[in-house]
Amino acid sequence: MSSYKIFFNMNFFQNFQSFLLIIILLFSFVNCQNIPNPRYAQTSSLIGKRLYFFGGDFTTNANVSIATNEVWYLDLSSSFNTATPPWNKDVGMPIGYKLGTSCVSPIDNSVFLVGGRMYIPNTGNINLGSSPVHVFNSNISLWTTPNIINGYNSSFEKRNQIQPVIDNNGKVYIFGGTNFTGLDSSSFFYYNDMSILDTTSMTWSTLAAFTNAPPPLLTNTATLLPTGIIVYIGGFKNLNGSFMPWPVSMNEIQTFNTKNFVWSAQVAGGASIGSRIAHSAVLTQNGEIIIYGGSIWDDRTISATPYIAKLDTSSWMWSIPDLSLNSPQLCYHSAALYGDYMIIAFGQIPSKSSSSYYALSNNLYILDIKSYTWVTSFNPNQSKALPPTTIQTPSPDNNLKNYLFIGIGIGAGMVLLGVFSVVGFLLYKRKRQNQYPKSIPTPGNTDRI
Ligand SMILES: *[C@@H]1O[C@H](CO)[C@@H](O)[C@H](O)[C@H]1NC(C)=O
Ligand SMILES: *[C@@H]1O[C@H](CO)[C@@H](O)[C@H](O)[C@H]1NC(C)=O
Ligand SMILES: *[C@@H]1O[C@H](CO)[C@@H](O)[C@H](O)[C@H]1NC(C)=O
Ligand SMILES: *[C@@H]1O[C@H](CO)[C@@H](O)[C@H](O)[C@H]1NC(C)=O
Ligand SMILES: *[C@@H]1O[C@H](CO)[C@@H](O)[C@H](O)[C@H]1NC(C)=O
Ligand SMILES: *[C@@H]1O[C@H](CO)[C@@H](O)[C@H](O)[C@H]1NC(C)=O
Repeated sequence: MSSYKIFFNMNFFQNFQSFLLIIILLFSFVNCQNIPNPRYAQTSSLIGKRLYFFGGDFTTNANVSIATNEVWYLDLSSSFNTATPPWNKDVGMPIGYKLGTSCVSPIDNSVFLVGGRMYIPNTGNINLGSSPVHVFNSNISLWTTPNIINGYNSSFEKRNQIQPVIDNNGKVYIFGGTNFTGLDSSSFFYYNDMSILDTTSMTWSTLAAFTNAPPPLLTNTATLLPTGIIVYIGGFKNLNGSFMPWPVSMNEIQTFNTKNFVWSAQVAGGASIGSRIAHSAVLTQNGEIIIYGGSIWDDRTISATPYIAKLDTSSWMWSIPDLSLNSPQLCYHSAALYGDYMIIAFGQIPSKSSSSYYALSNNLYILDIKSYTWVTSFNPNQSKALPPTTIQTPSPDNNLKNYLFIGIGIGAGMVLLGVFSVVGFLLYKRKRQNQYPKSIPTPGNTDRI
């Protein structure tokens, strides 16, 4: 071998190394651009073959709240591995957003963000002048803010910790909420009214609290059944005459019938399910609500148990699926059902958090609800196997129609940084009141401090 050749080879090798280095740098640059930071209290919605995530908070310092206006989506049209999810960033929202819910119109797939905590993007400053409604057209990545909401009730201002749902006619139902924003803890309200926004005419109405309405509920989930009944599960409740929070027993299920506006309370039986906040709920094709995650009500560093449970909405019986593998533990996350896949993203990791530090996740987890196994690969064909559902009605003429979304549950996951300061305060108050047991409400049977 001549020395020239050796030189050439080395040179080639060095060039190749630099080439490789450039490729790696480029790849990691592109990669950084395409992976969202960990966050919690975002909201999410399925729109066709895309699972969108709106806003959230990425501060790990429990004393700070900074809401992002970022919008990300996962492309569910082709196969992927959960280690490398197909993330895409979309146009940002006009506001930073957390602790609200996004509703997708069954009429034209517009997304309606109604209420929630709205911030000047990437700050902890509440955007006080913000409209209560923001609309996203994902076809053209355009955000708009409606100028006029007919009959808007200004007492809805700042309303957050809400779980709106949208029905097949484009009516959004919003139960209760609070105007507490984390800034002024001296004067705030918890509401148990029902606000209705008709998105087809942008008309607002407020149903005064009914005599049989539940007390204000917070950090619960809301799931609309095909029968028009909204099912509220878990979270806190606030009993009348005081701002004292109290966990909602998982045996105590409140329902609201959107057809006749009647509230009723169901007593759920079956397996014993620990009460929780900041969990998520999705509705399956056969009328089961699967709840996942959450923390115990007064300590977001302790995971609720069991981690996954199913509620049969015809018998109101709870059961606990047999899951061989350990589940990831999250609260303030998002969950959506796409075919047989329950897709879980973002949130706080209770067991790794402390009272001053929030461990946040940007992992994606997929549970196959046919076999109740965690899977790492997503195959869109599996989602196509199921018939469409009545929950979401895809437009007849778009290419979204041949696969289905079964339903989406937004994490009550969308809870509040602020409520915890309130809860802390109230717990303190309650501890003091505990000296006077007569003033303490009776907890549900599965609740515990
Ligand atoms: C988005 O595109 C679909 C398919 O063309 C259409 O049916 C739908 O009305 C569009 N939505 C909006 C908000 O423009
Ligand atoms: C919440 O609403 C009540 C009643 O309108 C009002 O007195 C209170 O100041 C409001 N609190 C906040 C934080 O806006
Ligand atoms: C506005 O909402 C408040 C709080 O629920 C309620 O007391 C009031 O009656 C509502 N006003 C109208 C006009 O519906
Ligand atoms: C508050 O609760 C008490 C005891 O449960 C009940 O007697 C009272 O009527 C309630 N008051 C209101 C305003 O709902
Ligand atoms: C948060 O605030 C508390 C009380 O003010 C303080 O003790 C704690 O160190 C703060 N935590 C962080 C991470 O700043
Ligand atoms: C999905 O189905 C199509 C046609 O039925 C097939 O070509 C493709 O390989 C399948 N993809 C996966 C990931 O199984």
